[in-house]
Parts: sequence; structure tokens; C-alpha cells
Amino acid sequence: MNFFEYKDGRLYAEDVPLRQIVKTVGTPVYVYSYKTFQRHFKVFDGAFKSIPHITCYSCKANSNGALLRMVAKMGGGADVVSSGELFRALRVSIPANKIVFSGVGKTEAEIKHAVQSRILMINMESEDEVRTVARIARRMRTKVAVSIRVNPEIDPKTHPYITTGLKKNKFGILWEEARRLYREIADEPFLAPVGISSHIGSQITQMGPFIEAVQSLKGMVTELKRAGITLKYIDIGGGLGIPYRGELPPHPDEYGPAIERELRGSGLTIVLEPGRVIVGNSGIFVTRLLYVKETPEKRFYIVDGAMNDLVRPALYDAYHEIMPLEQARGKKEKVDVVGPICESGDFLARDRKMPVLEPGAVLAVLGAGAYGFSMSSNYNSRRRVPEVLVRGKEYFIVRRRERLTDLVRGEAIPEFLKR
Ligand code: LLP
Repeated sequence: MNFFEYKDGRLYAEDVPLRQIVKTVGTPVYVYSYKTFQRHFKVFDGAFKSIPHITCYSCKANSNGALLRMVAKMGGGADVVSSGELFRALRVSIPANKIVFSGVGKTEAEIKHAVQSRILMINMESEDEVRTVARIARRMRTKVAVSIRVNPEIDPKTHPYITTGLKKNKFGILWEEARRLYREIADEPFLAPVGISSHIGSQITQMGPFIEAVQSLKGMVTELKRAGITLKYIDIGGGLGIPYRGELPPHPDEYGPAIERELRGSGLTIVLEPGRVIVGNSGIFVTRLLYVKETPEKRFYIVDGAMNDLVRPALYDAYHEIMPLEQARGKKEKVDVVGPICESGDFLARDRKMPVLEPGAVLAVLGAGAYGFSMSSNYNSRRRVPEVLVRGKEYFIVRRRERLTDLVRGEAIPEFLKR
């Protein structure tokens, strides 16, 4: 469900024709739909309504301040993985007691930032990290709420780059070791073991792996309870997939109750860390066709957007549907949609049947709200693109296009080179 649709042959974001945004803001640009984001958050959060839970939106999927502020206003929390994300979440008044901090490589400074902010819990991912958090807690004489991210050894059946709960992955701690660490934590005067967490992967389109993970975590919670350690939070991570190309992932209304059945009566509060399922289909990437180039082998649509703006096709061979802003009927041809970057991996689509288009046509790359802008870079010294939020008939620039001077902000040329 999203609000990017053709009306009389013109593609709209809610009630705004995308052409209008392109005229004033230019291309390339990311466009988000307020209604879609709001709806996805509410449907997801609502699916867990009959059990205590906190929906901690995963900032890494898209950390634009306007979207994070929407999460705050809808009563959500945040899953952060860096000081930067923690700063962003607090800045828009997401309550600290609804923020969880995950990640395998938190620095001391980041841990201190989390401790000072008094977040809900730090999800620790190694024995070394446990010792570091304990040392910082003692030094700061602050009781720190923690959880261990366990690796439940479950195959989520998704792209290998976004699989995280297998033995060979760097994430989480195997249960044998986690069990021992929980005992140590319980003996630490400045650590409070309040939760357990896991995240098995992303873009998961089947229910089975989630259920297996929850059952496994539930078993661990019971075992800890027997050992005198009572946890309050069970954090089941993110990972619910979305349809990019006909996939049929479970709907939140199916996912929520299924998880709830597993945890009903446990006295635990569920923490959820959804990213993609909230924001994926809430955003599109809009790019202009610059040139049509034919070679004996291929036909290329060269567009002004590139892998630095949207890296998913290049990095994961990800499929994103592409639609022209003006609905085109008639003949289609097989093309590669490629960007201006000096790499053969710079493509948005390959061997894709597309309508015959002329330079100047504008294309919308769908499902680009998650891991789109948030993974963008300045490669080839390309300025990062603006982000626009549409709400009904109105639209707002929620991040302006970078200027050339933004590219060199913070750089310095040493005196000796100036002479
Ligand atoms: N929690 C943790 C600990 C995570 O590592 C992630 C994603 C999430 C939550 C959110 O997962 P989601 O609900 O969005 O599936 N760049 C890749 C995805 C990487 C996901 C990393 N972790 C992509 O574009 O597909």
C-alpha cells in the first residue's frame, strides 16, 4: 500500500503531481509520502496492540529528521547504531527510554553517549563489549540497562549480505557464551540485565524464521529466569520484508498476532526494530533521462541519478520497479538504466523492459524509501540529493540539495601547499 499512483496518466505522490516537484526542486530527488509512512507505522504498531510493546523504528533505513519526528509524534521509539543516529533520534524528541542501541562496534564515546542519555538498553554483541560497558558504567557510577544480542543460528533465507543470524555472521553472541555472560552481568553492580535481543536478517519474506527466533529467545528467557535473572524486554529486531518484485511477505496483521501467540502471558514487553517495512514503499527516487545510447549489444538509458544516490541495485543486485512520470503506452524495449558514475556497476536496472522514452523523460524508482538516501554518498564528488516530503496537496523540502561548497566543508589545505 502506498500513495504513488497515476492519475490521468500522470504520476502523483499523494495529491501532488511529481512533475511539479521536479519543476521546482529538480532531479535527482527523493520523494516521501507522509500518508504512506504514517499508515505503515500505524499498521505495524497496531498489529501488536494487545501485548506490551515498543516499536523502535530502525533509523538506519532512513534517518531524515522529518520522518523521525513523525515516529516521535506517533509514539514510537528508535533503534540506533551510532552516536549519529542517537543524536538524530533525541533531537526530534524520541524519548530516551524508547531507544535501543545495537551494533557490533560501539566505541567508548558512543557507549558514554548512550549511558548519559539513559536509553532503554544497550544491546551488547561481544564479551569485549560487555567488559567495556561495565567499565564505563562503573566509572560513570551509573546503573546501565543492557541486553545481549544473541545469535540464534537461524537461516532467514534472504540475500547473504543482509543475513545476520548465522554462525558465520559477525553479529550477536551464541547462546552458550551469552548464558555465561548474563551471569557475569547480574553480578556487576552497575549493569542491569533487562533484556535479550536478536535480529536475524533483513528483507525476510517468510514467517517461519521469525517464529523460530522468538521461540528460541523465549527458551533462553526461561532458562535465565531459572537461574534467577528476570528479563523485562524481548527485542526481536527488524527484518520484515516488502514486495519489490511480487514477493509476498507476511502482512503485519499476520506477523503481529503470530508473535503475540508465542509471547502471551510471558510478562515480557516486546521491542521491535522495523525499518524497511515502514519506510521502504514510502519513498521513491526520481531521476531524469539524459541520453539514450545504443551499442551493438545494449540500449542504455543514461540518467542523472547514480549508485551514489541509490546503491541497492549495484550492491545487492536489488530490483526496483521504474515508472516514467508520464504514463507511456505502446512499444517497450529492453534497456539498462545507468548513472553517470565511472563504474560499470553503476546501474539502477539491467535488461529491463521499459517504454520507449526520449531524453528529458523523468523516471520514478519505486520502493526507494529504505536504504536509499541513508546509504548515499558523495562518490565522484556528486552532491547528495534533496529529500521532499509530500502531505496531501502540499510538499516540503526536508533536506535541500547539497551545494558545491558542501563537498569541501571540513576539508583543509595545509599552509605549505598553499604557497
Ligand atoms: N535491527 C537491527 C539490529 C538491524 O541490523 C537492522 C537492519 C534492522 C533492525 C532493520 O531491519 P529492517 O526492518 O529494515 O529489515 N542495506 C540493506 C539492509 C541492511 C539491513 C541492516 N540491518 C538493504 O538495502 O537491503
